[in-house]
Amino acid sequence: MEHYNMNLTLKVWRQKNAESKGHFETFHVKDISSEMSFLEMFDVLNERLVNEGKDPITFDHDCREGICGACSMYVDGRAHGPWQKNTVCQLHMRAYKDGDTIVVEPWRADSFPVIKDLMVDRSAFDRIIEAGGFISTNTGNAVDANAIPVDRFISEEAFDAAACIGCGACVAACPNGSAMLFVSAKVSQLALLPQGNPERKTRVENMVQQMDKEGFGNCGNIHNCEAECPKGISVRNIARLNKELLRAGLTSETVK
Ligand code: SF4
Ligand code: FES
Repeated sequence: MEHYNMNLTLKVWRQKNAESKGHFETFHVKDISSEMSFLEMFDVLNERLVNEGKDPITFDHDCREGICGACSMYVDGRAHGPWQKNTVCQLHMRAYKDGDTIVVEPWRADSFPVIKDLMVDRSAFDRIIEAGGFISTNTGNAVDANAIPVDRFISEEAFDAAACIGCGACVAACPNGSAMLFVSAKVSQLALLPQGNPERKTRVENMVQQMDKEGFGNCGNIHNCEAECPKGISVRNIARLNKELLRAGLTSETVK
């Protein structure tokens, strides 16, 4: 595709902290290359704001390669912007044309309070992981890879679930603010594999208990989460989470 430059209007959500109200601020950016990433476009704008002695726009980012899940924001009302199965850092300006207006907002979810501008606090996800998103194993020599045979279909399912990057788009896209897709992916990736078996029951109970404690809503089978997930995590995992929870409840394990 031909490279081109464009002038754009940005309407960006500005908010000092979780307590303050917030408002949209309009910026005009010039000569933006179609080859820039969306975050690079913000870098150009922020450099200008700093040079003008103004407060730069706060946004979260880390890898800029679609693997860390930090670059959470709404672009024109879509979680992670207009491209399917894509993160904002991997959204490129060729998605836009000269003269476009782009509206950028933070995740809107009670469990993800705004830290500043476009950056939200997703530590609720960390606490859910701490509640059970791990396996306990003795250290020592690495076990031979072939020692525990795993069915090909099962390993593929576990790998697909493990692709979740914890970005929170599923919560932001859900009218109930449900974290079921995230939690189900994290439960599934371990429940499917033999290594996850010893803590299988307590894991699902503790993670769901923590999810409820954090104030995430219930799943309403709307499936916005799957549609907006940058990693294509399937709602099949939610069915598996419910099954795992039922299975745990039918046995006598005690919740820690
Ligand atoms: S399930 Fe998808 S949308 Fe939700 S946190 Fe994981 S990667 Fe992000
Ligand atoms: S910055 Fe890491 S996924 Fe976007």
